[in-house]
Amino acid sequence: MPNKISELKNNVDQEVTLAGWLYKGRSSGKVQFLIVRDGTGLCQCIVEKGKVSDELFEQLKHLGQESSLTVTGVVRTEERSVGGHELAVTAAEIISPATDYPITPKSHGTDFLLKNRHLHLRSQGQWCIGKIRHTVIDAIRRFFNDNGFTLIDTPIFTAMVGEDKQSLFEVDYFGEPLHLTQTGQLHLESAAMSFGKVYCFGPTFRAEKSKTRRHLTEFWMVEPEVAFTDLDELLELAENFVSFIVARVLGDNKSQLETLGADIAALEKIKPPFYRLTYTEAVDILTGEKTKQFMASQLEQLQNTKQQAESKITELEQQQKGQIKQWQKDKIAAELIELRGVLAETDTKIENNPKHAKLAAEFRWGKDLGGSDETIISQMHDKPIFVTHYPKDAKAFYMKTDRDDEKVVLNFDLLAPAGFGEIIGGSVREDDYEKLTAKIEKQGLEIKNYEWYLDLRKYGSVPHGGFGLGVERTVAWLTGEKHIRQCIAFPRMMDKVYI
Ligand code: 4AD
Ligand code: MG
Repeated sequence: MPNKISELKNNVDQEVTLAGWLYKGRSSGKVQFLIVRDGTGLCQCIVEKGKVSDELFEQLKHLGQESSLTVTGVVRTEERSVGGHELAVTAAEIISPATDYPITPKSHGTDFLLKNRHLHLRSQGQWCIGKIRHTVIDAIRRFFNDNGFTLIDTPIFTAMVGEDKQSLFEVDYFGEPLHLTQTGQLHLESAAMSFGKVYCFGPTFRAEKSKTRRHLTEFWMVEPEVAFTDLDELLELAENFVSFIVARVLGDNKSQLETLGADIAALEKIKPPFYRLTYTEAVDILTGEKTKQFMASQLEQLQNTKQQAESKITELEQQQKGQIKQWQKDKIAAELIELRGVLAETDTKIENNPKHAKLAAEFRWGKDLGGSDETIISQMHDKPIFVTHYPKDAKAFYMKTDRDDEKVVLNFDLLAPAGFGEIIGGSVREDDYEKLTAKIEKQGLEIKNYEWYLDLRKYGSVPHGGFGLGVERTVAWLTGEKHIRQCIAFPRMMDKVYI
């Protein structure tokens, strides 16, 4: 078995063999610097002329990016090197050479990278996100398993409309129309009446006709459901749960967060209690003076960012024209790609700012919060925010009306801070047979499909509730990724399924 890069700290001054792929190679005459990746990390391997055969030296010099190989050498500690260690190469074997690997270190467009996702998964960015996603999923299971929850696997084919009729994927089930599940919640409620505390965790499908950074058509959701609970207890469960996930990622994935440029200091603040706002308070904030001022100062900041990016671009373009070495040219070209990206993004934000400010100012009580409204509230906070008690007509049929104010339901959304937006939706469930029947009918759902669900309100109904957390949105928030399609290996979106 080859040694692993992540374990090299235990092999200092020893000879090891790594098996992996050539991530990057650079040669300066008598020395070559090969960065090798093996799935556990990156390691710089130094090949000196004379320390290996001339034939091998030449072969390695012309080896293409992503060729597979083994390298043998002595491990040295080198703080400046990626991963903190280096290999002084004594031997190497090329397993399968690669030529013209399509993803080069230069910047590629998003569309190109998505079409090449099967290869792009090997990039550092995708690798770091994949490792963090793995920790998030492990933490999710750990949290519920250690807190008395029983895992229940809920079906994917279903006749029930879990959330809304507009986003169903129909399937022909032996001649019967069924659809792919939008949530495991309804089935989970029946399991909660058997086990008390349960959770389901699986893929979820929504034919979302919006091409936003927050929507996939196939995403992973974890949903806990608890018998004998209330809204306050659910909020407490959610904030402990999210804080646990963040702590695990900070513990296990610091170096990946650093590589991705995530805001580690901001994540370190994510501890209970989170902020709590009612929907009505949120509406007051959106339509009030504070938001007006906030949006105006944001516009000013964006204009500053635009100016700075523009003058830096002009400066670099000047430098490009001068007498400079090839490596300097490459460096400037990469910086320019980055800066032009920032500029384009800032332009979009500048264009959207007044539109979003207007939407917020004109928001009227009764509507669901829109994406931009959530963004504004979330930008104003440094920790997650619970928004509770939404108008009942804006939300799903199963949510329990507040007996003290029948216009609203006992529900919550959890908004991740710094502009990210909703990562959790949850509620106390309507447990009264008559009220629930009336709501199902009002929403035009076929009562015959809900008879078993109504049974739960006939035979020992209890106050109960739960919530659903979207994995991709959580990973995007933690990693600072703008678009959630980067947070699942093979994303499915409305406009395209690439591979
Ligand atoms: O708010 P939602 O629709 O809630 C439910 O499905 C409830 N039945 C959950 C429950 O109470 N058991 O979805 C929950 C979460 C959202 O907050 C979001 O994180 C994620 O699922 N989500 C999506 N993620 C990616 N793409 C989409 N199209 C998503 N729709 C929802
Ligand atoms: Mg929601």
